[in-house]
Amino acid sequence: MRDAMKRYYITTPIYYVNSAPHIGTALTTIVADACARFHKRRGQEVYFLTGTDENAPKVHRVAQERGVPTQQFVDEMAEVFERTWRALHIEYDVFIRTTEARHKRVVSEVFRRLREQGDIYKGSYQGWYCISCETFFASSKVGEAKTCPDCGKPLEWRDEPCYYFRLSAYESRLKEHLLAHPSFIQPEVRLNETLGFLNEGLQDVAVSRTGSEWGVPVPDDPDSGVVYVWFDALLNYLTATGWLERGEAYLDIWPPDLQLMGKDILPRFHATIWPAMLMALGLPLPKRLYGHGWWIVNKQKMSKSLGNVYAPLEVAGSLAQASGCELPYAIDAFRYYLLREMPTDADAEFSLEGFEARYNGDLANDLGNLLHRTLSMMHRYFEGRVPAGARLDAGLADLFAQQAAQVTEAFEAVDFPRGLREAWQIISAVNRYYDEQAPWTLMKQGHSERAGQVLYAGLIATRLLCGLIEPVMPQVARAIAHQLNLDTVPCWSDALVMNALPTGHSLRTPKPIFPRLQASHSTDTPVRTSGSDKTVQATSTTAMQDMITIDDFKRLQIRIATVKAAEPVPKSTKLLKLTLDVGGEERTIVAGIAEDYTPEQIVGKQIPVLVNLQPALIRGIVSEGMMLAADVDGKAVLLHPDREVPSGSVVR
Ligand code: MSP
Repeated sequence: MRDAMKRYYITTPIYYVNSAPHIGTALTTIVADACARFHKRRGQEVYFLTGTDENAPKVHRVAQERGVPTQQFVDEMAEVFERTWRALHIEYDVFIRTTEARHKRVVSEVFRRLREQGDIYKGSYQGWYCISCETFFASSKVGEAKTCPDCGKPLEWRDEPCYYFRLSAYESRLKEHLLAHPSFIQPEVRLNETLGFLNEGLQDVAVSRTGSEWGVPVPDDPDSGVVYVWFDALLNYLTATGWLERGEAYLDIWPPDLQLMGKDILPRFHATIWPAMLMALGLPLPKRLYGHGWWIVNKQKMSKSLGNVYAPLEVAGSLAQASGCELPYAIDAFRYYLLREMPTDADAEFSLEGFEARYNGDLANDLGNLLHRTLSMMHRYFEGRVPAGARLDAGLADLFAQQAAQVTEAFEAVDFPRGLREAWQIISAVNRYYDEQAPWTLMKQGHSERAGQVLYAGLIATRLLCGLIEPVMPQVARAIAHQLNLDTVPCWSDALVMNALPTGHSLRTPKPIFPRLQASHSTDTPVRTSGSDKTVQATSTTAMQDMITIDDFKRLQIRIATVKAAEPVPKSTKLLKLTLDVGGEERTIVAGIAEDYTPEQIVGKQIPVLVNLQPALIRGIVSEGMMLAADVDGKAVLLHPDREVPSGSVVR
């Protein structure tokens, strides 16, 4: 009974909020979203959890360094995470924050229960501690330099009373569980890493910390400080189900079906401490843990000091500006790139060049072009309607079904690179079929019925792909469904129905979803971020000698706007957010003039604004246009009309 009602429960790690989301944290979240959407499309009820890990001492430390009260800091950062995930089309069901009272109650209750039953006991700790990793290390693991074996930062000596979780008592049960359930940890390389870790022997874990008041106080013993942040954070997965609050009803969700994370936090935390805590509580274990590899940049780990940390929305926004692709589709293209190149077993290199190559190749040339050429020919030859008697050739129907089965299997295994490769085989097959059958020649020769049959394969293929790619590119799937004139994106089983478009079904006029990027813009488009004030900028590659026609110029809509309000963009020294009146219409733009003008100096001014520029997300703000100013040695100088003019006046 319970199992029938149970929702498919997917989790991401909860993210530390000491820095903004980047391509690493976006990877886990996008993978989770794609898995959630995949299961939903297959008719399962899904419960998708993500959130923020706010009780860590390092979060507290960063807030103090910035001179902001810690609660205010975590509130602001949690909002940045939520906003970023929504902008990346991530549809989670619950966003949990570890500073929520309901979570703190769960942490205290678990600590108390395990202490009462003897799984947590009081001792004392003498040894080395890494503040950055929030981890104690035995002296045997620490070299002469006294640096952290994981992150390399200097360790601190600690000598204090402390509570321990009796992890060692669970060593053999954990090993037995892993061996009896080989699919508990995936991919296989992570299972082997975990077995290696267990074979080194488990020590009890220190689960309280003194020296900081930020966190969940050790229950009934305030002098012992706060609960260790990992012991606290892992319990978020339980809090979110309503355990403690909903009686038995939490079992509608519990246990997790799929917990996703990076390889760094799998063997020790998610595959050892976490299941041991659940064993101690007598609760069922998660069914599957999946640990992906890491993005590296120029063969190095991403780090702020190397300046190679990329912000997802800026990468996508930059592509949108350079290519003319609408922002929601550029964001989907970014999701596609992350999943197509996703590090599974090994680490993978992230690069803007790689992203552009996938965009132009897989999306503009393959998927976009197949849809566009098929619809164009349907309009040219058949007035945009499915001709009578069109049916898919049996060979192709088999091939489509086989490919779809491969995609299903790969997505189920969280192997998105393989799944997408298999899906793209459908595109190659139809392109080959078009080349062999040449519907354009068939038309010239008067074989219109056969030409209709051939083009029908392109329609069915794009309809099928529309369903299969929705987990990866939800907005693009919607755009394809719209052009095919379908009411909705077909769900998984419906997408697999061949010959699903009836005679006479009318198709919409095609509109390119992925305009081609003309030249690489990655070298002069600053998108590296987090902490840097560089934001999405237009490419500067247009050569001065390139002449444009008057028609090109007429495509620019420049109007005079009156600045109604101006405010600095948080954490940026260069940007101002401007609220404009453009002839009765209010618009927001982000302008890089904060170093040259204060908000007071610009409010009330009239300025020219390019109003038909693709919107771009800059620092989480949707900028709907670009102000024009003179550039004098890199400084902006405002331009004004000679006398006051009505807001919205056209500049030509
Ligand atoms: N707060 C802990 C998780 C607690 S879960 C109970 C944490 N947070 S984190 O923000 O540091 O990392 C979150 C996730 O991002 C991890 O799964 C980590 O592997 C992933 N990534 C961080 N940088 C990454 C890359 N460069 N590449 C891929 N993923 C990486 O750990």
